[in-house]
Amino acid sequence: MPKKKSFNVAVIGAGGIGHDHIRSFQQHPAASVVALAEISPERGREAAEAYDIPTLETDYKKLLARDDIDVVSIALPNFLHAQVAIDALRAGKNVMVDKPIATNARDATRLIATAKKARRLLMVGQNQRFTPEVQTAKQLVTNGTLGEVYHAKTGWTRRVGIPRIGSWFTQTKFAGGGCTYDIGVHALDRCLFLMSEFDVAAVSGQTYTKFGNRSLGDGGWGKGEIDPKRPFDVDDLSIALIKLKSGRTILLEASWAEHAEDDGFNGTRLFGTEAGLQLPPLKLFRSTPKGNVIEQLVPNINLVNPNRMVHFIDCLLGKAKPYVLPAESLAVQKILDAIYKSAATGREVRIR
Ligand SMILES: NC(=O)c1ccc[n+]([C@@H]2O[C@H](COP(=O)([O-])OP(=O)(O)OC[C@H]3O[C@@H](n4cnc5c(N)ncnc54)[C@H](O)[C@@H]3O)[C@@H](O)[C@H]2O)c1
Repeated sequence: MPKKKSFNVAVIGAGGIGHDHIRSFQQHPAASVVALAEISPERGREAAEAYDIPTLETDYKKLLARDDIDVVSIALPNFLHAQVAIDALRAGKNVMVDKPIATNARDATRLIATAKKARRLLMVGQNQRFTPEVQTAKQLVTNGTLGEVYHAKTGWTRRVGIPRIGSWFTQTKFAGGGCTYDIGVHALDRCLFLMSEFDVAAVSGQTYTKFGNRSLGDGGWGKGEIDPKRPFDVDDLSIALIKLKSGRTILLEASWAEHAEDDGFNGTRLFGTEAGLQLPPLKLFRSTPKGNVIEQLVPNINLVNPNRMVHFIDCLLGKAKPYVLPAESLAVQKILDAIYKSAATGREVRIR
């Protein structure tokens, strides 16, 4: 069968990030966003008009039934990711799904098996891996500048940044979890990627719910839909100690809200035998007998296109190799599951 040279894309979900999915695919000359599915007629109409998308449906399955659609991009609440992606793969589509891959490792495993069977491309949109800082850092780690990287701290902390209290983001049955799922997942994925190891031995975690349950800390991603009938039953701060099979360690911290001077940190620090690294901004540190050396670096390496959707299409064209692998996203999902299990049981969780 001749290789395709252009791809029709359907985006499912036109909320906060759905617009970014559409715009990002539209950057690739070989991609056309031809259809949109959105259950809110108003949000759907607005996006279809804004981006000139010819077809709008409320039922995504109508788009899956179309033979002319090659790619489905999923920008839906977390609890829908795995099932909609499985439906799309079974319909023969290539699937880009936003993070997290699923809301538990069992569903993630099922999804990955479906992609393998369907022989279609499945990628999780871990956009923070694609930044020039992370790509440059990856190269520094790979070429040995840091020596042996034995420990890392990674996190994303916000002072006031709960995305829409009362929405699906703040209910376990729709989101899977709170800040750990929403922003911890980025910090974790970025760190494991930089350390080039997704083999996890054990996780010890703790989660807290201290702000959202008091209707405090709303902000950062749209306006809250505070409604006392909808429980806030997710974490707004979490920490974890992750031990990799190699014996190396990661400290993870995520928070949507905390009493702090500022928003804290969305970054990663790596500790190596020859140098330490921090991003963003990208800096190298060395403690030498003559004193501390700090080197500010200009991130200039593009291992892949920093636009994840352009990269996805490049993969379909055979011009790039997938930068985020399903097995890596499954490893991240297992850690998320383990953090909650450890918090609930008070014990370290071993991962097989
Ligand atoms: N990569 C990132 O930086 C990033 C940023 C924000 C959100 N996200 C992820 O993107 C996903 C969506 O987040 P969001 O902020 O856009 O949420 P959102 O609530 O703003 O948008 C979700 C949209 O999906 C629609 N929807 C729900 N069920 C549907 C269905 N069955 N069929 C069609 N449409 C349906 C909703 O009406 C809504 O418009 C989440 O998984 C989130 O974790 C990623």
